[in-house]
Amino acid sequence: MTEYGKFLSPTGRHLHESAIRRMGTVAARSAEMVSFAAGYPDPTAFPWSELRELAAGLLSGADPTVLQYGPTRGHEPLIGTIVELLASRGIIVTAPEVTITTGSQQGIDLVGRVLVTPGDTVLVELPAYTGAISAFKNAGARLAGVRQDEDGIDLEDLDAVCLRERRAGHGVNLLYLVPNFQNPAGLLLGLDRRRRLLEWAERRDVLIVEDDPYGALYFDDDAGTERTRPIRADDARGRVIYLSTFSKTLAPGFRVGWMVAAASLIERFETAKQSIDLMTGSFDQRIVHEAVRRGVLDRLAPVLRRLYRTRRDAMEQALAEELGGRLRWHPPKGGFFLWATLPDGIDDETLLARALEERLVFVVGSAFYVDGTGHDRVRLSFSAPSVDRIREGARRLAAAMDRASARTARVGMP
Ligand SMILES: Cc1ncc(COP(=O)(O)O)c(C=O)c1O
Repeated sequence: MTEYGKFLSPTGRHLHESAIRRMGTVAARSAEMVSFAAGYPDPTAFPWSELRELAAGLLSGADPTVLQYGPTRGHEPLIGTIVELLASRGIIVTAPEVTITTGSQQGIDLVGRVLVTPGDTVLVELPAYTGAISAFKNAGARLAGVRQDEDGIDLEDLDAVCLRERRAGHGVNLLYLVPNFQNPAGLLLGLDRRRRLLEWAERRDVLIVEDDPYGALYFDDDAGTERTRPIRADDARGRVIYLSTFSKTLAPGFRVGWMVAAASLIERFETAKQSIDLMTGSFDQRIVHEAVRRGVLDRLAPVLRRLYRTRRDAMEQALAEELGGRLRWHPPKGGFFLWATLPDGIDDETLLARALEERLVFVVGSAFYVDGTGHDRVRLSFSAPSVDRIREGARRLAAAMDRASARTARVGMP
């Protein structure tokens, strides 16, 4: 058989894989497995009948462009709809400042291709979304982690890390962060910090990549529109590249997201996108556009907020009952994730090994840290499993923890 190793490029050899995708594959192996791993939306909440009707209408054949190639930048009416949606989030832009992307993941990848010089440092949070870690690493970036506290990224540490990297001779042009219900930590960045981040970016001459898939999924009104106001909404100097998506609020299978940036940058991203996929799928864009235009998204949003809040409550209650204080966490105010700290003496990988034996899967905390730490954390996703499965998963987690503790105690004996 042909040995392919020697054919691989340096990039091909060192491709960075997402830990979450790997865990997703484990979960898919058995229906018996309870998965707290992948951050999937609940498929029972997809608006199946409305989408069926829209799809049938679009496939009538009356409009041949529905299945035709189209502009790389995206279906123009959809861009117009997104401009309106952005205005409701406080972001006032025109169509040339927007491009459709194949999921917001492609937006992150485009940023890596267009704005990262190999060897440059990209600043990310500790912890950070693994899909961004992979994209920036595959673009040849060094990644430097910045601490968080309860209110999100720590601005003093941010400045210190930026200056340290520059003193060491590395270019620092980008900060990537998820201000609303961060994946994985579930944190909501404080409003004052959002404003100060813009001042900081100006002072240090850095661009901010603001990734916002979860902003609409807040659980309490006090975590609602005011407190999720995007950083981009107050960005008068063009410091922020804003990414968002229909994946969490409509359905991820469509692969429709978007990017907002200065028109001159959007042109660059568009050119890079041309050689990747020519365009995001026409049919997907049309369905999403029709769904937004007919109010499906507006009707769905409050339903999803209630649904995921119920799941969050169920997970918090089940963990409290089953694990009685052995896990600690900040209650997530929105999004899909509960980010838990393990008791002393138990590390994430040992616990995952025991959990898999109990037919439970989650993502280890260390997968989200670019500095090799995070072994005292786990990410538990509550979005997809039913309340009953969440309770069952909490029971299995408790059993896994008992076995991990017993083993730690044995190993720890002189
Ligand atoms: C923070 C963050 N950014 C981007 C994405 C990718 O989303 P999309 O489906 O739009 O590519 C995800 C998906 O989980 C995410 O959590």
